[in-house]
Amino acid sequence: MEQVIHVENLRKSYGNNEALKDITFQVPKGQIFGLLGPSGSGKTTMIKTLTGELTKSSGQVGTQY
Ligand SMILES: Nc1ncnc2c1ncn2[C@@H]1O[C@H](COP(=O)(O)OP(=O)(O)O)[C@@H](O)[C@H]1O
Ligand SMILES: [Mg+2]
Repeated sequence: MEQVIHVENLRKSYGNNEALKDITFQVPKGQIFGLLGPSGSGKTTMIKTLTGELTKSSGQVGTQY
């Protein structure tokens, strides 16, 4: 199935704090995808990296809607 979100080996650090540590997942077109986790686990950082509001430290992110 067509993948509309691709995240591969994504890392994002704020100074010495590595908020995203080697994240890999894909979301197929039409799939309802939940991003769950406790406060401080990196949900907002993940979404803002996907939208381009934040730059990644390394790895790949891709979206095609
Ligand atoms: N602008 C920022 N500057 C420095 N550290 C940040 C910033 N935003 C988030 N962090 C840190 O990154 C980690 C993930 O935070 P965040 O993405 O906000 O998690 P969530 O949205 O899941 O609560 C936390 O350790 C948080 O303190
Ligand atoms: Mg948040």
